This record gives sequence, C-alpha cells and structure tokens, in this order.
Amino acid sequence: MICHIEVYGCQMNAHDGEILSGILKSAGHTVVKNASIAEAIFVVTCAVREHAETRALGRITHLAGMPDQKPLMIICGCVAQEHGDRLLKKMKLLDFVIGPDLYHRIPDLLREKTGRLSLTEQGVEKYESVSPDRKEFPRAFVTVMRGCNNFCTYCIVPYVRGRERSRPSDLIINEVRGLLKAGYKEITLLGQNVNSYIHAGINFPKLLEMVSIEAGNKCRVRFVTSNPRDLSLELAQVMASHENICNQFHLPAQSGNDRVLKAMGRGYTRNEYIAKVVMLRELMPDIVISTDMIAGFPGETTEEFEETISLLQEVRYDYAFLFRYSEREGTAALQISPPVPVKERLARLSRMQDLQAEITLEKSREIVGKHMTVLVTGPARREGQMASRTMGNRLVILESLSYEPGQMVQVRITRADGYTHFGEPLSTLLKKN
Ligand code: SAH
Ligand code: SF4
Ligand code: F3S
Repeated sequence: MICHIEVYGCQMNAHDGEILSGILKSAGHTVVKNASIAEAIFVVTCAVREHAETRALGRITHLAGMPDQKPLMIICGCVAQEHGDRLLKKMKLLDFVIGPDLYHRIPDLLREKTGRLSLTEQGVEKYESVSPDRKEFPRAFVTVMRGCNNFCTYCIVPYVRGRERSRPSDLIINEVRGLLKAGYKEITLLGQNVNSYIHAGINFPKLLEMVSIEAGNKCRVRFVTSNPRDLSLELAQVMASHENICNQFHLPAQSGNDRVLKAMGRGYTRNEYIAKVVMLRELMPDIVISTDMIAGFPGETTEEFEETISLLQEVRYDYAFLFRYSEREGTAALQISPPVPVKERLARLSRMQDLQAEITLEKSREIVGKHMTVLVTGPARREGQMASRTMGNRLVILESLSYEPGQMVQVRITRADGYTHFGEPLSTLLKKN
C-alpha cells in the first residue's frame, strides 16, 4: 500500500514517525512524501496543548477531503491515545485510531481490512525489534526511555505516553554502533525524562558516557529532555569531561516562583534551579541553555508571574520555548482555582516573548566573530544556502552549496538574526572531528 505519514509534536513523536515508517516498510508498504497519491494517511498527533490538538485534527479533515481519492485515514500518537474511541464517533472520516504503544499492529490492520477500530491499550512497548526509517541524516535519534512518571500537574504526557520504561543499554549501544557505521555524525539520546533512565544498574550519566566513548571523535552526542530536579553533578561532570558531548542543555524551568513550582509538582525551587544553571556554567562556560516557560498557570498572580520574568532576566537563556497555560483533560491542575483569564494569559505570554526575543538576540550577537565547528545538516530553507549546527545546537547558515551533509566545517560567525546565525568558512581549516 502507498502510505503517507505526517508528524506533529515533540522529538519523541518525530522519532515515532520514523519507527512507524520502519514498521510499514518492513511489512512491504511504500512510504511517500506526497499525500495526494497515498492509499493510507497516518497523522502522528500531539496533545500537549489545545492548539497542537486542534491543528492536527484540522489537518486530518483537510487530508481526508482531498477530492481524487479515498485514502484510509489513521490517527496515531498522543491525541489518539487521549480520546481513543471517542474520535471514531466524532470524526466519521477516521478509519483507525492507534495509540503510541500499538504501531506494530498496523500492518495487520491494513491487511485484514477489519473496519473502523480504535486501539489504545497502554503497555511496556519499547519498539526494540523495529529498525527506524531515519529521515535526518547526518543526525539520528536513539530512544533510551519512553514514558514519564512525573505527573507535573498541568501535563498530559504521562497519561498519553504511559509509565517510564528504559531500554537495555546493550541494545542502545548496538544501535549507536550501526549508526556510526552508516556515517551518522550526531546522535540524540531521546526520552521524555532521560535522567530517569535506569536499566540493570546503569543510570543516565553512565549510559551517556558509554555512548560518548563508543562515538569517539566521529560523532557528537546530545540528549533531550530532562527535568531539572534530576540533573545531577555526576551528569554535568560526564558532559564536561567528554569532548563529543554537546555543550547544550534544555532545562525547562516552567516558572520562576516557588509557590507555582510547587503547585505544578516540579520538585525544585527557584534557588535550586538557579544553582543547577550555575553548576552547568561553571563546568562548561560556553554551554547553551534553553528553557520552557508557562504563563498563566491556574492561580498564578501577577506578582508570581513577575518572578518568571525575573528568572528569564537572571538566567539569560540562549533560547526559550514560551507557552500560555492550556487546560488538559484529566490533569490535576484543572482542579486549581481561580483560572487565569485567557486574555491575561496571552498578555503574560507576550511579555515573556518580547523580553526573551531581546535576550536571544543579545546572546546571539555575543558569538558574532567567534570561530566554531559546525555540522552541515542539509540544504537551508533558502536556495543556494546550507544549514549547519554548532555544538550548542545553534543554527548556522552557510552561504554556499559546496558542502555535503555530514561534513564538519570550521566557520567564523559573521552575523546573527534572532536565533539564526550566518557563518563563513575559515581558510585555515582546523579540523576538529
Ligand atoms: N518532558 C518534557 C516536557 C514535554 S512537554 C519536560 O519535562 O521537559 C513540552 C513543554 O510543553 C513543557 O515543558 C511545558 O512547558 C509545555 N506544556 C506541557 N503541558 C502544558 C500545558 N498544559 N499548557 C501549556 N504548556 C504546557
Ligand atoms: Fe510532562 Fe512533567 Fe513529564 Fe515533562 S516531566 S513530560 S512536563 S509530566
Ligand atoms: Fe506532544 Fe505527545 Fe510529545 S503530547 S509533546 S507529542 S509526547
């Protein structure tokens, strides 16, 4: 069957799209980019905020409405898990609803033509026997754990992704070896909460070190994502002592106020959080730190919100993903009152955005003139340019096509535009990797 896959949401979903593509191809199906020739369309959805959900459902309606064909419509991912059967009732155009733990059942469904069906049992699925069909050469995702046990009170992820489960380290190392052989130059260890990784006595810092040693000077290593509560000195030391582990940390704070952090169930205070930032910067002075922040969590007062603003100012993140609070069914925060009016949430969000845009630009300008090693990842959006990434994961545009994806290039950063940088190659190539 000719299949088309569209993916929304976080990197776990992006990689699930690759897993799904791997499953379909090994069952003999063809996966194409063009939806209009597909006999089966899969949309891998995100449920983390209402907006993400509405967008994915809108896209399904649009794809199903294409005039020339009547493809099978399959909704996968977190919205499928969240609503299950209810989606079949609500959206007559859907054929199958498949939760994130049941993608291996899809080839049977396509063969058996069972009629409309929703499969959402949650289990301990780790997709260990699947070869993902990777789309991002020279960068690859490797799952280390799935699920989340943290139950932050605003978050739907633990409900839709199930409990934490870690993959055995020997399987992870084997997958890494295969990627190195195939020439991959950057590996991102993936999980909703990688710091909770534990398998047969091996914790995340140990696993990261094992992967880093395996990757040697051929390949960079990153990871995403982690709860600041679980960031240990041991992890920071492993990062600092291995040259191929990227000096980048996504450390979502969510709020700068202790009462709100407690109501969110985050498990750290503002001061504990700042102490972790200081620790990272002491060990790795040029580390790139990013965050996620939520404005208008239920009960958040204007004074409390000011502490989120002051945290942005105090830490001066290189980059930040900023959200307004969005009600999610089944989460504990729904019981907290009073809710912050939507208009006020939007006003707070826009204040955070304005401030962070200034900081991001200032921080970006600080690196103009510096020399950096970038990994060429592929063509940039604009014609005639290539995209590349620094160790800190900053996007650097190279104004020439004379590079291959996978090449490491020494550049001088010439200018910054928001979080995008421009680089020119150095004539004296001091090749690092
Ligand atoms: N496991 C990751 C988070 C994944 S969700 C972590 O803990 O870092 C990505 C981000 O979405 C979260 O960090 C949070 O900032 C945001 N988010 C989650 N639920 C939300 C909600 N109900 N409203 C607004 N933003 C939310
Ligand atoms: Fe959600 Fe918290 Fe788990 Fe992150 S750690 S996925 S924010 S419950
Ligand atoms: Fe969204 Fe699911 Fe990821 S809810 S953020 S796609 S785990």
